[in-house]
Order: sequence, then C-alpha cells, then structure tokens
Amino acid sequence: MSGKKLTGEVYYPDKEILDRAYAKCESIYKSAEEDPLAFWENEANNLHWFKKWDKVLDDSKKPFYKWFVNGKTNIAYNCLDVHIQTPRRNKLALIWEGEDGEFRSYSYFKLHRETCRFANVLKSLGVKKGDRVTLYMGRIPELMIGMLACARIGAIHSVVYGGFSVESLHERLEDSKSKVLIVADGAKQRGKIVELKKIADEALQRAATVESVLVVKRTGHQINMESGRDMWYHELVNLPIANSSECLEIVDAEEPLYLLYTSGTTGKPKAIVHTHGGYMVGVYSTLKYVFDIHEEDRYWCAADPGWVTGHSYIVYGPLLNGATSFMYEGAPTYPYPHRWWQMIEKYGINILYTAPTAIRGLMRYGDAWPNRYNLSSLRLLGSVGEPINPEAWRWYYRVIGKEKTPIMDTWWQTETGMFMITPLPCTPLKPGSGTKPFPGLKMDIVDEKGMPAEDNEEGYLVIKSPWPAMLRTIWNDPERYIQQYWSRFPRMYLTGDSARRDEDGYYWVIGRVDDVIKVSGYRLGTAEIESALVSHPAVAEAAAIGLPHSVKGHAIHCYVLLKTGYEKSDKLIEELRQHVGHEVGPIAKPEGIEIVDSLPKTRSGKIMRRVLKAKALGQDPGNISTLED
Ligand code: PRX
Repeated sequence: MSGKKLTGEVYYPDKEILDRAYAKCESIYKSAEEDPLAFWENEANNLHWFKKWDKVLDDSKKPFYKWFVNGKTNIAYNCLDVHIQTPRRNKLALIWEGEDGEFRSYSYFKLHRETCRFANVLKSLGVKKGDRVTLYMGRIPELMIGMLACARIGAIHSVVYGGFSVESLHERLEDSKSKVLIVADGAKQRGKIVELKKIADEALQRAATVESVLVVKRTGHQINMESGRDMWYHELVNLPIANSSECLEIVDAEEPLYLLYTSGTTGKPKAIVHTHGGYMVGVYSTLKYVFDIHEEDRYWCAADPGWVTGHSYIVYGPLLNGATSFMYEGAPTYPYPHRWWQMIEKYGINILYTAPTAIRGLMRYGDAWPNRYNLSSLRLLGSVGEPINPEAWRWYYRVIGKEKTPIMDTWWQTETGMFMITPLPCTPLKPGSGTKPFPGLKMDIVDEKGMPAEDNEEGYLVIKSPWPAMLRTIWNDPERYIQQYWSRFPRMYLTGDSARRDEDGYYWVIGRVDDVIKVSGYRLGTAEIESALVSHPAVAEAAAIGLPHSVKGHAIHCYVLLKTGYEKSDKLIEELRQHVGHEVGPIAKPEGIEIVDSLPKTRSGKIMRRVLKAKALGQDPGNISTLED
C-alpha cells in the first residue's frame, strides 16, 4: 500500500495486529502482482499432492480454465489425513453447540475417523466417484462430516440449505440427478423443529433418481421411514462395513468437488461447479491471509454450511489450515439476544465472521447485551454477503471489537469460491468498503462499453484474470456458463454487481444490477419467487422486486394479477405468502403482496421490474418509452 494519505474515514490497524499478520502489505501485493501464477503455485506447495501438476494454469480453452493441470490430490485428505500425521492429531477441529445447549467436540483424529465411517456407509449404498449426493440438514456436525465423506470418495456433494423447501429441494435433486439424499429428521431453530424429513418426503415424490435416503437423527421426533428407501445413519454406521479399511479416492485436480445451486438472472437456480485442486488452493490461502489463522486460534464463521460461505470458510478453509472452528446450530437471538456474545466468551472465540444482516439484527437490541460479556478474546471480525452500511460497521467495530479488531469486509460470490475483494489485517479500513482485490487478482469497474470507469464513477464490477477457486462451469449447461459470465464484455468475468472505486483505489460495491434479490444475505432470483406464485391456482401473473429493509438489507415485494374468478382478500394474500414459503422456503416469503390489475411490460412482454421498484420507492421510473401500456 502506498504511503499516500487516504481520504475519508479511515481506520488503521494497531501494531499488535500488524506484527502478528502473515501477510505484510508492503510485500504481498507487489510479489503476487508481479507473478500471480508463482504466487498460487507457492500456496499449492503448502498442500499435499499425490502427484504435482504439469502446469499451474491452462488457458487454452477460455473461459474453461484449468488449474494445477494433471495434479492429483483430494481436498478431504488435505483437510484431515495430513493433520493426523502431525501433533495436530489431538487438536480440536470442531466445537459444536446445539440450540438446546447440547455440546460436542471433534479432534482432528475423531473427525477423520467419523468421516471415514460416513464414507464407508456411502460406499455401501453404492456411491462411487462422480455420483451426486444431496445433503439437506441443519447446522450439525454430520453435515460437515457428510460433505467430507463425499469428497473423500470422489462423490460430488450438493448441499441444499435447510431453509429451502419442497420445490427448491426437488429441483436440485432432479437437476443434479442425485443418487443418495442425506437428510436430518429435523432441525432445531428458535425452539421449534423444522420438519426436514417431511419436506424431503414431499420433494422425493417428484424426484426419480434418488435410490436411497440416509436419515441422520437430530430431533428424534416421529417421522415417516419408507421401507427399502430410507435408512437410519446411526444404524448403518454401527455395522462392521463402516469400519472397513481406509477409503480414499485420489482424484485429478479438476475433478468436481461439489455443486452449489444459486440464483441467477433468469430461470431456475443453476449449479455452480467447484473442483478439488484450484478451489482447495484458493480457500486455503485466502482464509490464512485474510483471517490470519494461527495455531492457537478459535475461529467462528456463523454462516450456514448450505451457503458458499459455509462450504469455503466453515468446512474446507479452516480444516485445510488445521484450525479450530466453532459451529452453532440455532438462531442468534435464541432464547435471548445474548446468545452469540455468551458463546464468544464461553469458547474464547478469536475470530468472528458473519453477515451485515445478522449484525443489524443484533444491533437492534442495543449495547447492553454484548456489554454483559467479556469479548476481549476477539482479534478479528469479518463481514460477508452484502454491502455493510457504515452504521452497522461502526457498531460492530466499537461495541463488539472494542475498537481494536479490524473488520474484514469480504466481497465474493458462490461463483468465485473464495474472497476476491477484501482487506488483509494490515490494510487501512474504510467502513462500507471491501478495500482492494486480494493479492494477484485483476479486477476492474467498467462502463457500458467495457472501458475502465473513472474514479468514483459507478460501473460494472468485472474480473479480468482467472483465479484458482473460480467456478469451472454450470452443471450440465456450459453454454449458460459462457452466456451468463463471459459474454457481456470480451475476456472479462461479469460479476452481476455494480461498484465504484474511489481515489485511493478502494472498491465500494453497490449491489446487484440483475434480477437477483439479496434477502438477509441469501440470494434469490425474481424468477424463482414469481414461478412459485404462478404455481398457485389463483395467480395468472406475478412480479417480484426487492425493496430496502433495515435488517434484511432487501425484502421481497410482489405484484400479482389474479385469474378470473378469484377475488382479492387478505386471506388470499396470506395464502400466497405461505405458498411461496412452502415451495421455495421461509426466506423467500414476500414481505408484501399487492394484487394489481396489470403489470408494466415492454412491448415484447417482459415485466419491467425497474418501473415497479421506482413506483414503490416514489422515484422517477426513468425511460419508459418501451412500456407497452
Ligand atoms: O452482490 C454481491 C453480494 O453477494 C453476491 C454473491 O452472493 P452469493 O453468491 O450468495 O455469495 C455470498 C457469499 C460470498 C455478490 O454478487 N456480496 C457478497 N459479499 C459482499 C457483497 N456485497 C457487498 N459487500 C460484500 N462484502
């Protein structure tokens, strides 16, 4: 970083943070920029490869990039086996607290053993390398173990967030053609049971490829077990087959590791494909440098494993770094808004990584709740998922971090797999800015023509060079991969976000430029919500938009045109809200639904959501010359 004085509100790290940090700002940016491939190659050399790569990057078939070409490895081996050959064997890998106060802990040794047993159970169900396995559970250790077990045998996991419901699960099972579904009987949330198995039963009626359902007991409530299809995990794992000799599939660096569905501009959610090799190198090194994970740290990423943040920075990143992670099952405010702060004190958490929506949600309850606890173990804080508003940033910094913990505001996406714009502990911070691209990454902000934008000019956020943890394609749809990400501007990856860069080179992400709505940090497509509404017998047409919300960031508002014969009523509106909740998931329930007589459309019949949004916000709708009516 240059010695030039920075503009605006700036927070400088103190000496203790600087001295301790692995990444030194004076050198890391410069060396990574000079030779990015050498930078990544160096990082890869810290991990275990059964056979080293012939070439770091193959860009001969752009945009289908390959990393660590012909390298042979396995990410789960690097997460577990590598550590059990060292004194880390007895170190805690995972500390878990259930919402009801239940406690479990796993050393690296134990996590390895449980993963092997889980992998053997999967093998006994006929799961082989390349098969897809869907996991649908709450935040419990078995989710992590199940993911690692898949990775270990070369199966491709597809985790469906426990907050999704019937249709979302069904679509994902069907699109991935999953052979096995691993589901928990239920999840504990806010003192209630989320009936995961019941939702799965309904989704399975419409999903043809699933041969076996492995049920993990969490809540113990009464569920339906279909004979010949459903099996209890705890029964299979206690059979001798589970203890069979080590099972490990050595895979090519480019072998798919997982699919993760995410919402895009149009149509159904699509599955992003991540691989064993490049992804492993990307998440390992970004977590190490950004959250500065040291041997003695206790790290807590409070996201859901069903989200990319959980994949990269609850499961894979921390384990690759040999860290001790904490996982909490339930809601932040259950039974009272002190829960998180109490656990930080109780477990001596050093690093907390969460989302602006959670910070705003907790900030509402005032300073007294966190002030009752000793939070002095905290050394670094993190934020992800949406732009953090400066007020929430300052509260987090002052009340939680006691003005001594830098905040790592990390910008990235399901597609990028790893942090892309992020401070390092040595970076001077500005509230609301993710600061700069991670060392070695080429990013930019461009105008409509793809030309670099001026300082402070809003434009499209793009990535101009490949990075190791990048998505490789969209599952079963390489055309859409090219179309969606690489077609708007030649040789640039389109993020779908708008941003500006200030005179100090700091990036300020503004938000999505497409039809994606971020609700409490979760990414939802207008198309998904609209198609759920239209699947209700009363609805002829629907439009969904996101409007600003003080806690959720954005909330969903819908406009609905009824079929003839249906009358507008509060009861029907509530029924429609519940219907979306049932089909897509509780997070997708619209905040408001308005029944209208017509929707603004272009002459070619496209709904102009922009006009609806402007109207709802009392703003000028801009150019409406293409409006049909
Ligand atoms: O709009 C950006 C926003 O979240 C989008 C990616 O969403 P998803 O794939 O669900 O991944 C979220 C977790 C990595 C981005 O296109 N976003 C994510 N992090 C930030 C952010 N916006 C501003 N600041 C962030 N730190």
